[in-house]
Amino acid sequence: MNRKPANPWGELAGAALIAPSLLACDFTRVGKQIDQVIASGAELLHLDVMDGHFVPNLSVGPAFLEKIRGYTDRPLDVHLMVTDPAYFLEQFAEAGADSITFHVEATNEPETLIARLRKRGLGVGITLRPGTPVETIKPLAAEVDLVLVMTVEPGYGGQSFMPEMLAKVAEVRGLLKPHQRLEVDGGIHPQSARRCAENGADVFVAGENIFGSKDIVTAMQALREATRAGVTE
Ligand code: DX5
Ligand code: ZN
Repeated sequence: MNRKPANPWGELAGAALIAPSLLACDFTRVGKQIDQVIASGAELLHLDVMDGHFVPNLSVGPAFLEKIRGYTDRPLDVHLMVTDPAYFLEQFAEAGADSITFHVEATNEPETLIARLRKRGLGVGITLRPGTPVETIKPLAAEVDLVLVMTVEPGYGGQSFMPEMLAKVAEVRGLLKPHQRLEVDGGIHPQSARRCAENGADVFVAGENIFGSKDIVTAMQALREATRAGVTE
């Protein structure tokens, strides 16, 4: 593939974007499953990176991302659930990330991380755990392309959606300009996606609901309908 990694958030037209999380895919046939979700309209792919410290689970590293980069031109949206995003930023940027989202709880120099991503021409996202107040990201909201509101405690796929995050979604949307993206991640299925859309979300990460379903195409269609209902074009 020959995509040169670049900030995807401007090029991704359309109100609601669906970002399947590869955390939930069948790792024995990742390529085929990527083909299926892209054929079903996934605008980007979400890569959940876990270091076993920031969250009690370990997932994939830059080498895996590099393989995915070599396989697809679809924008790669990397979510760093790591205690040291400053250390990993370059490695995932080098490996081909188009956008990198880091946890505001994991750094005391968010502006530096934002500047490093901007310098590379990559997309910039910040995210916060369910228990972290919106206050923490207020000063940064104008600087980023995307705020990811976690709708589960980060660490595992297949968890139940936390409806109490809907108020947080609405509050974060109130901080953002129309072109800035609000992504939700965790327990997203058609019902929760619709409610998040109604509160201002427009990028939907889903793992289990898509890759755990009997039929990926049907699952993607159901998510598309649900998100369309809630997000005005
Ligand atoms: C949590 C992960 C999950 C994953 C999606 O740390 O970030 O939220 O992306 O998982 P599902 O859609 O299976 O809840
Ligand atoms: Zn994620």
